[in-house]
Amino acid sequence: MQKKNIVILISGQGSNMQAIVRAAQAQRWSQRHGAQVLGVVSNKAASAGLAWAREQGLATAVVEHAAYPTREAFDAELVRAIDALDPQTPPALVVLAGFMRILTPDFVDHYTGRLVNIHPSLLPAFAGLHTHRRAIEAGCKFAGATVHRVTAELDHGEFLDQAVVPVLPGDTPDTLAARVLTQEHLIYPRAIERLLAPAV
Ligand code: GRF
Repeated sequence: MQKKNIVILISGQGSNMQAIVRAAQAQRWSQRHGAQVLGVVSNKAASAGLAWAREQGLATAVVEHAAYPTREAFDAELVRAIDALDPQTPPALVVLAGFMRILTPDFVDHYTGRLVNIHPSLLPAFAGLHTHRRAIEAGCKFAGATVHRVTAELDHGEFLDQAVVPVLPGDTPDTLAARVLTQEHLIYPRAIERLLAPAV
C-alpha cells in the first residue's frame, strides 16, 4: 500500500487536529489506508495544539508569519517546512484545521487536489470571518460547518461534507461556535477518511 502522509496546519487550540489524530488511531487509518498523520505545522509558536501534538510524538514545525515580509515569502517557507517533514514522500493531504492565514495561489497550486479546509458555516453562506455572529445577526435558524477542497478563492472549492446545527434562542457567537465545533469534530475526520479510502 502506498504511504499517505497527512500534514495538519493549525493556528490555535487545534481541537479539529486532535479529532483527526484520534480518528486516525481509533479507526486504524495506518493499517486500512496506509495513512498517518505525519506532523503538524503552526504559524504561532504558542498554539496550544502544537504542545498537544508534541505530546503525541508527532513531528511539529513553526513558521511564524510575522517573520516574513510578504505573504509569498511566508507561503514559500510554509511549503518548505511541510515538504521537509518527509522529504521522500510528498504529503497526500494537507489539512487546514483552524489555520488562520489566507494562502497564496502558489501555495494552493503546489498542493492542488491535496488541500482541504473546514469552515464554520454552511457555505456558500458566510465565507470569511465572524461566521457565528453573522449567522445570529441574520436570523438564521440553522448554522453549521463545511469541509471543502481549497482553491485560490477564499472559502470556495468542492464541498466534501457539511453538518447542520440549530441556532437556539439566546445563542451567542460562543455558544453557537461550541455547538458547531462538536459537529466539525465528526465531519472533518469522516471527510478525510473518505479521501484516503481507495475508490471502489
Ligand atoms: C474551527 O471552528 C474551524 O472551523 C475554524 O476555526 C476553528 C478552529 O478550531 N476555521 P480548532 O483550532 O480546530 O479547535
